[in-house]
Amino acid sequence: MTGTDPRFTSPVVANPGTTLDPDGMAVLHAAAYRLDRPWTAAEFRALSDSPHVFALGDARAFILVRVIADEAEVLTIATHPDHRRKGLALALLGRFHALAQARGATTAFLEVAADNAPALALYQAAGYARVGQRRAYYARKDAPAADALLLRRALD
Ligand SMILES: CC(C)(COP(=O)(O)OP(=O)(O)OC[C@H]1O[C@@H](n2cnc3c(N)ncnc32)[C@H](O)[C@@H]1OP(=O)(O)O)[C@@H](O)C(=O)NCCC(=O)NCCS
Repeated sequence: MTGTDPRFTSPVVANPGTTLDPDGMAVLHAAAYRLDRPWTAAEFRALSDSPHVFALGDARAFILVRVIADEAEVLTIATHPDHRRKGLALALLGRFHALAQARGATTAFLEVAADNAPALALYQAAGYARVGQRRAYYARKDAPAADALLLRRALD
C-alpha cells in the first residue's frame, strides 16, 4: 500500500449538519449496494441504538462505525451512485478517523469483499493495509463466494 491520499487533510465534503436516520440509511444502502444484501431500517435502528456506534454523512453518502476502547471499525459505507467519485467516501473515512482518535482509538479495522474493486481502491487511498483473509465469506448469485479481506490502519 502507498501513502494516504492528500485529500485526507482537506475540509470535510459531506454535510455534518444533515440528519441521518435509519430509514434514510436503508434507502441509501439499497441504492448503493449491488453485490451484497442491503441492510434494513430495522437493522440500522438496532445498530444506531448502541452508544458505541456513530453515523456520519448525509443523503449522498454515509458511514456507520463502531468505536470501542482502542479499536474502531467501519460497519458499512455507501455513496449513492449519482454522487460517486467526488471524494465523499474518502472524506467520511477521514472524519471517522478523527472521531475514533478523539475517543481514544489507535487502530481502525474493516472487512471488504475481495471482488469489490472500488472499495479496495478507496481503502488503499485512505491508508489501509491487508492483515487477514476469510475464504469464501460473501455469497454471490452467479459466481463463487468471494473472500473477505480484513484491512487495518493505524490512527495517528
Ligand atoms: C466504495 C464507495 C463507497 C466509494 O464511494 P465514493 O464516494 O465514490 O468514493 P470517493 O469518491 O471518495 O473515492 C476516493 C478514491 O477511492 C478510489 N475509488 C473510489 N471508487 C472507485 C472506483 N469505482 N474505481 C476505482 N477507484 C475508485 C479512487 O482512488 C478515488 O479517488 P479518485 O476518484 O480521485 O480516483 C462506493 O463505490 C459505494 O458506495 N459502493 C457500494 C457500497 C460498497 O461497496 N461499500 C464498501 C463496502 S466494504
